[in-house]
Amino acid sequence: MNRQREYVLGTNDAELERLGFQHRVWSEQAFALWERAGFGSGATLLDVGCGPGFATLDLARLVGPAGRIIAVDESPRFVEHLRERCQRESVGNVDARVGDVQSPDVAAGTVDGAYARWVICFVPRPQDVVAAVARALRPRGVFAIQDYFNYVALALAPRSPILERVVAAIDASWRARAGDPDVVGRLPALCAAHGLRVREIRGHARVARPGSVLWQWPTTFFRNFVPTLVTGGYLSQAELEAFEREWAARSTDPNSFFATPPVYDVIAEKPA
Ligand SMILES: C[S@@+](CC[C@H](N)C(=O)[O-])C[C@H]1O[C@@H](n2cnc3c(N)ncnc32)[C@H](O)[C@@H]1O
Repeated sequence: MNRQREYVLGTNDAELERLGFQHRVWSEQAFALWERAGFGSGATLLDVGCGPGFATLDLARLVGPAGRIIAVDESPRFVEHLRERCQRESVGNVDARVGDVQSPDVAAGTVDGAYARWVICFVPRPQDVVAAVARALRPRGVFAIQDYFNYVALALAPRSPILERVVAAIDASWRARAGDPDVVGRLPALCAAHGLRVREIRGHARVARPGSVLWQWPTTFFRNFVPTLVTGGYLSQAELEAFEREWAARSTDPNSFFATPPVYDVIAEKPA
């Protein structure tokens, strides 16, 4: 695989663990979205860019033995991890496949629903993902998405110039790999272009306080990702060190808080 095109955050053990933790701190929002989308017992669902499959396993239990999850990710390592977990936990209704979500190998009109969380923001051609899902859905099938819009709105309070510098570097490196941290802003038009009716758009503005479980979400992301911005030439070593000092100080400051990057839910439906 072309390394430039590999998933920007990598597929190593630290990222796998971070994705598991991330799923736990966002699982309440995921389950609530699945419920509003009507995902339930007996459904066949497509998990678009499933990663190591933390949401996939919850979806597999949600649809039960009469349902099925087709889980697609480009990372052979993540897909293998999911397959091993399914075997270990006797989950028999997951079909985990290595593939590109911009051209997944799923028969037309065969799935009741699809879920894509933090995936469309990383692909160069979001329109191809929406087109592929629209094609795979049955009439009245539902596409439920959780992704970013206005990612750069994440902030420390009181404001932190060094965090703002790091966020600008994250944004630049993300876009340089043809990802889009504003991708939810394009989804209504993309859904309309592919015959999907947008039923709901809802935003999550969450606040993490030092010492909370949610505070660990940005902490693990910054720990894994910000050093790679130095390697990539987006940040200097001195800026990295200044940021690490700032984050450590804020992590014990009870008068500080962190506004998470805004995550949006989108529910779109294929007409009957
Ligand atoms: C932030 S992870 C999210 C994983 C999972 N959806 C979740 O919410 O836990 C992004 C995932 O998208 C996958 N990905 C990125 N581009 C892809 C593509 N073009 N085709 C398939 N998977 C892709 C990566 O391999 C990675 O597993």
